[in-house]
Amino acid sequence: MEQTQIATDPAAVPSDRRATDSYYDIHLFICTNRRSNSKSCGGNGAERILRHAKRRVQALEDSINLSIRVSSSGCMGRCELGPLLVIYPEGIWYRCSSPQDLDEIINQHVIGGGRVQRLMASF
Ligand code: FES
Repeated sequence: MEQTQIATDPAAVPSDRRATDSYYDIHLFICTNRRSNSKSCGGNGAERILRHAKRRVQALEDSINLSIRVSSSGCMGRCELGPLLVIYPEGIWYRCSSPQDLDEIINQHVIGGGRVQRLMASF
């Protein structure tokens, strides 16, 4: 499996990534719901994305000064776009269909505070 290099230099993490009014600085919710009769996140590989996210975030937490949580979620009501993930505190929705997509989101959004425009879900 090809893996994207993740920046782990603490100096590369913007200081404003620290949340002041939330238990976690950053919280990723990945829908793993599975539907039997229609397209769903779980049916499109969301569990693989969730496992990859947990491994990456665990590795990151040892090197950056942010508390990050990855949680599975139930259906978010936009099943046709899945696999979906939402990142708080910003509330940004992403379509994430591969570990490479997830690495890009972690590098640019979670660490860098930016956005991955090509993966953002539009409604
Ligand atoms: S199954 Fe993921 S949004 Fe519905």
